[in-house]
Amino acid sequence: MCGIVGYLGNGSAVDVWDGKCFTDVNASGVDARDGEFFTGVTSEAMPVLFDLLKKLEYRGYDSAGIAILNDENGEIRTFKTEGSVGDLISITPELGGRIGIGHTRWATHGKPSTKNAHPHSDGTGRIALVHNGIIENYAEIKDKLIESGHEFRSETDTEVLPHLIEEYYDGNLESAVRNALSMVRGSYALAAISVDDPGRIVVARKDSPLVIGLGDGGFFVASDVSGILKYTRDVVFMNDGEIGVITDAGIDITTLEGVSVEKKIETIEWDPEAAEKSGYEHFMLKEIFEQPDTIRDTFSGRISADGIDLGVALPNVRRIVIIACGTSYHAGLFGRYVLERFARIPVDVEIASEFRYTDPIIDCGDLVIAITQSGETADTLAAVREAGSKGSQKLGIVNMLGSSITRECQCLLTRAGPEIGVAATKSFTSQLACLLLLSVQLGKARKTLSTADVNDFVYELKQMSGNIQRVLNSAPDIRKCATMFADADQFLFMGRGANYPAALEGALKLKEISYIPAEGFPAGEMKHGPLALIYDGVPVVAIATKDPVYEKTLGNIKEVKARGATVIGIANESDTEIAKYVDYVLRIPDTDPWIAPVLSSVVLQLFAYYVAHHRGCEIDKPRNLAKSVTVE
Ligand code: M6R
Repeated sequence: MCGIVGYLGNGSAVDVWDGKCFTDVNASGVDARDGEFFTGVTSEAMPVLFDLLKKLEYRGYDSAGIAILNDENGEIRTFKTEGSVGDLISITPELGGRIGIGHTRWATHGKPSTKNAHPHSDGTGRIALVHNGIIENYAEIKDKLIESGHEFRSETDTEVLPHLIEEYYDGNLESAVRNALSMVRGSYALAAISVDDPGRIVVARKDSPLVIGLGDGGFFVASDVSGILKYTRDVVFMNDGEIGVITDAGIDITTLEGVSVEKKIETIEWDPEAAEKSGYEHFMLKEIFEQPDTIRDTFSGRISADGIDLGVALPNVRRIVIIACGTSYHAGLFGRYVLERFARIPVDVEIASEFRYTDPIIDCGDLVIAITQSGETADTLAAVREAGSKGSQKLGIVNMLGSSITRECQCLLTRAGPEIGVAATKSFTSQLACLLLLSVQLGKARKTLSTADVNDFVYELKQMSGNIQRVLNSAPDIRKCATMFADADQFLFMGRGANYPAALEGALKLKEISYIPAEGFPAGEMKHGPLALIYDGVPVVAIATKDPVYEKTLGNIKEVKARGATVIGIANESDTEIAKYVDYVLRIPDTDPWIAPVLSSVVLQLFAYYVAHHRGCEIDKPRNLAKSVTVE
């Protein structure tokens, strides 16, 4: 996830040197500056910004940059690189100036590269800006700006912002930013500086976090408090729709409409490690709780009044073959249900590590969809190459732009942001969301969905983020239930239809972080074998949300109950019947049956997390597992 930083020093020296801050080795194996000119205390912006950027590295990024405004000689100097903050430090000469901004970029629009790295500038180089988020209507703004003579240097959505600000600039950076923001749709946390309005940083926020620290050495801007804590514990959190102007005199915050806002200074008590996790105990929990935002990002700019536009060319094909591993394979299984239902295209789903050994019959009438969070999974990469060599068309559903698979085929980005916990959570729900979008877009194009169907479904999709939030609000109930079963010897998960992949994923989450044997089954398959695993008290998690196979699922619940299982049911809020059939109920909001598996998956992620937590497991780094599996 991108990180933005800023600093406005007040001339008094701050201590940036912590003995290891600048000792890392850059991509070429050279010690990056290793304290060469960082003597410990400084009143300059550059070392502070590097230090703040280092503290944001944990968020994941592919390129970095800084811009320093020297308000004495009136110039902005910008340095950026594809690579690490260490690389940036090694290429940046000593830059004088007490005001500056910096960025770690995690690519979403335009590949990782130096030209796409932030800060971005207007054509004149008199404005510099860093941005997190997505400008949804950047393409139309860019076209208009090009028509009026602006020249663009990057492929990013962000670059429209400094150009727009320049367009509106009439001697006041704040009002230019305000006017520019009135033109954009999307999400942003941004910081801007200008040589024409020196002595200030203008910041703004909408749907992307931003915090300002108030320290003895000056003002510190960052995407989260983790970097700032070394300098100050007194912070102001920006809210959506606010613009802040930081000067030597203080911070002045107004709404986008210009109404003054009285902000409370808050004192942060977290230690730096807790701050990286925004106060959550584990990255996995933080990532689970990010899902209302990540789903919003997945949908951003792709859903409109006209329906769905994913911005990828979708060929007219006879068959779709989905290939993936692990959690992404479960997303693929879900994809089969929704693609066949909405777009009426036959879909096969293959485990990538087995794909090649079937000597797959595949040709140019097939579309191979590779689903992968990392974009680096060796089995998936090899399978995509095999399919390509046989002439198939290819599409990636990928989280990491710039990864190997994004270089093999056109890609639909899931936009879940970097996932640090080994257990996939937010990347999974974003994969499901992308598959839903893809199915509806194809269904509309192939006329297998009516306009009314599309409109109804789009309405439900728009509720997804809020509905996930409601599931998260029920975390204390899920925790209570999970804790009761934390000592179980084994678990079974079952579901029918599109709930079956969610059951498989629930079992995988539980086994990988709690080490309890857990299997997922199609509920109708229990009587063909897995029923033998049922004994008195064994916990069975049954996904029984309202869908066309609800009654049948109740029948399967009766089968396991009759043999002694203790059943935890996942059911809709309005389901008043379910309690008669199961021992414990965990609820999801009422929604379309094809969206319900996304919400049930969030319940199961929390369930697995709390079981593992109660057992004292190493949740973010489960034994024997790696986040990115680059061996076959
Ligand atoms: O990066 P990918 O999505 O290709 O990774 C595939 C699997 O290794 C991955 O989904 C794995 O199963 C998860 N870490 C499980 O939580």
